[in-house]
Amino acid sequence: MAAGIRSRVVGADSLEDAAALLRRGGLVAFPTETVYGLGADAFDEAAVRRIFAAKGRPADNPLIVHLADATWLPRVASEVTPLATRLAARLWPGPLTLVLDAVPELPGVTTGGHRTVGVRVPDHPLALALLEAADVPVAAPSANRSGRPSPTSAEHVLADLPHGVDAIVDGGRCGVGVESTVVDARGDEPVVLREGAVSREELEAPADGATGAASPGTRYRHYSPACRVVIAEPAALATTAAASAADGRSVGAVVPVGADLPASVTEVARFRTTGDLARLLYGALRDADTAGLDVLVVPAVEESGLGRAVMDRLRRAAAPSA
Ligand code: TXA
Ligand code: MG
Repeated sequence: MAAGIRSRVVGADSLEDAAALLRRGGLVAFPTETVYGLGADAFDEAAVRRIFAAKGRPADNPLIVHLADATWLPRVASEVTPLATRLAARLWPGPLTLVLDAVPELPGVTTGGHRTVGVRVPDHPLALALLEAADVPVAAPSANRSGRPSPTSAEHVLADLPHGVDAIVDGGRCGVGVESTVVDARGDEPVVLREGAVSREELEAPADGATGAASPGTRYRHYSPACRVVIAEPAALATTAAASAADGRSVGAVVPVGADLPASVTEVARFRTTGDLARLLYGALRDADTAGLDVLVVPAVEESGLGRAVMDRLRRAAAPSA
């Protein structure tokens, strides 16, 4: 194993030890290109139950199973369709989750009681090294408390899950920042179940709305900081934030480079491209809470490419609490 990796594992001596923990039923958080995952051996029912308990996750919400390589697919999927084979060849490793029929041996706790399984090969060297060393498919949801913004650093994982995780592989900040696109790949055409880091353009999927039943997980409240999130048109960002601050609330904003903020508004983060916003969004939602803000104003971005996933997450973060 490359020098340097040893010091990056919290709670285990090395990546190999973290992999051994997974094989013994432990929970290991690890970085992917999208967000950090909270992993367990997908075939170990007791270990997977611990994931649900640690996150406070509803039991009917299936987990994504992570593989080191597309050649592992038959371990978890009973039928690998030509569409899945094509998409995997083109986009794996990468932020694309394929929903396929599950092998009957896969525990119902992993699939949320469904007969299908979501699978992906993450595009992150530490995740791939961990999976290869463990040599078991690893079920891993995002490593946040259910409902909170997904973690894009090891510190976010620790903040949300201080107990119950056996080891954390620290890979620094995630490069993409929003989760994988979930696609039903059982038919002839990809059906988007959750918007994500792979755009509809890249998938050559219809741009107008999901054609399938959305992923079970998209029903739940998500990505929600304690503060109120307000989406503003970029041109109205400063005035919206200032008006909110004038009401006596403590207000912050995520700002495009070049834009000015009134002195009454705290700058939480600055971004240039939609890709930058995707990378920093969840961290900014967390920072807003740490700073004790009442309101965080975030500009809308164009809904094409990655912008579609960013706006999906922003709308969920801005939705009033149930
Ligand atoms: O980028 C990601 O996808 C990250 C990293 C860690 O891989 N994982 C992630 O997992 O976001 P989670 O559990 O937070 O979200 C998984 C989403 C949920 O909306 C879930 O309902 C959906 O994927 N999903 C998983 N398996 C499914 C299945 N068999 N059918 C439909 N949707 C599924
Ligand atoms: Mg999640």
